[in-house]
Amino acid sequence: MRRLQYNRYGGPDVLALAEVETPSPGRGQVLVRVRAAAANAMDWKIRNGEMRAMTGRKFPRGVGHDFAGVIERVGEGVTRLQIGDEVLGAARLQQAGAFAEFVIANEQSVAHKPDALTFAQAATLPVVGLTAYQAVINAGRLQPGQDIFINGCLGGVGRIAVQVATGVGASVTGSCRSGSETDAYQLGANTVVAFDLDSAPLTGRYDVVFDTAGTLPFTAARRMLKPGGRIIDIVPSAVKFARSILPGPYTAFMGRPNSNDLQLIADAAGRGEIATHIARTIPLADAIPALIELERDHSSSAGKLVITIP
Ligand SMILES: NC(=O)c1ccc[n+]([C@@H]2O[C@H](COP(=O)([O-])OP(=O)(O)OC[C@H]3O[C@@H](n4cnc5c(N)ncnc54)[C@H](OP(=O)(O)O)[C@@H]3O)[C@@H](O)[C@H]2O)c1
Repeated sequence: MRRLQYNRYGGPDVLALAEVETPSPGRGQVLVRVRAAAANAMDWKIRNGEMRAMTGRKFPRGVGHDFAGVIERVGEGVTRLQIGDEVLGAARLQQAGAFAEFVIANEQSVAHKPDALTFAQAATLPVVGLTAYQAVINAGRLQPGQDIFINGCLGGVGRIAVQVATGVGASVTGSCRSGSETDAYQLGANTVVAFDLDSAPLTGRYDVVFDTAGTLPFTAARRMLKPGGRIIDIVPSAVKFARSILPGPYTAFMGRPNSNDLQLIADAAGRGEIATHIARTIPLADAIPALIELERDHSSSAGKLVITIP
């Protein structure tokens, strides 16, 4: 099978489309024939070696996590999924490999694709959908009538977070690049501010501050909270994890594989309650230049890059 992979951490020049043996699913795993896969910011952070403490030193490594496709084989102990099922899911952080003709995933990271979604639409959901849902609902404990601030509300995670929060019945303030305000209002934000916001007028306004870009200074975010409010930050660092252990409003949050949460997101998308925006669709053979361009221009607010495997 063809797979995008690399033999050492480094810049985009380490990427190559290689012919490799199709892997076999282990216990609790499935082999999926990939029909579409979607790029995330973490794909190039991992390839650069920024997350090597979590991703290790085993090469060659595949690229990409989000996929949608058809179950080709099931491993021992898999009960919920069958050969021929149309699914969406995320490959393990340590393995990646969704930008390929076949990918291995754990059963708990896979959900059934609603018929109303195309493979391309479904592939854009797993990482950003799970992270946004778990950050807003589980970590943020957002309730109807509450107020949330979403920093970077037009990014992959930010877009879903806005839709999850408005779906809960919360009031959303979002930050975006100046000039994109209309897009943020159309998405459902009630108030929109620029990235270089002055947090003073927002003092004491929010039950949850969700920093999807990881750029809000802690003191500014804390000032924006109502008493008892929570700050959720999804861009981790050693300092942030240390702060997260201390008592207080701050959580450095990592999304976790959970097929129930993923099914919830997929079904909501199938009903049209949540949507991602696809900026560009390209075949696997043309993926490398498109990924390099995406990383260089950092044009994620324009929407997701989807790689298709006919
Ligand atoms: N912890 C986890 O489990 C987890 C899971 C998924 C992702 N992540 C991380 O979370 C981050 C967001 O992921 P994503 O997929 O949403 O990435 P993304 O699509 O690149 O979105 C990032 C957003 O932040 C905006 N932004 C850039 N500079 C900003 C600033 N100074 N202030 C506020 N917003 C700013 C970007 O706007 P422009 O596009 O206009 O620059 C973009 O809308 C990435 O660092 C990713 O690695 C963590």
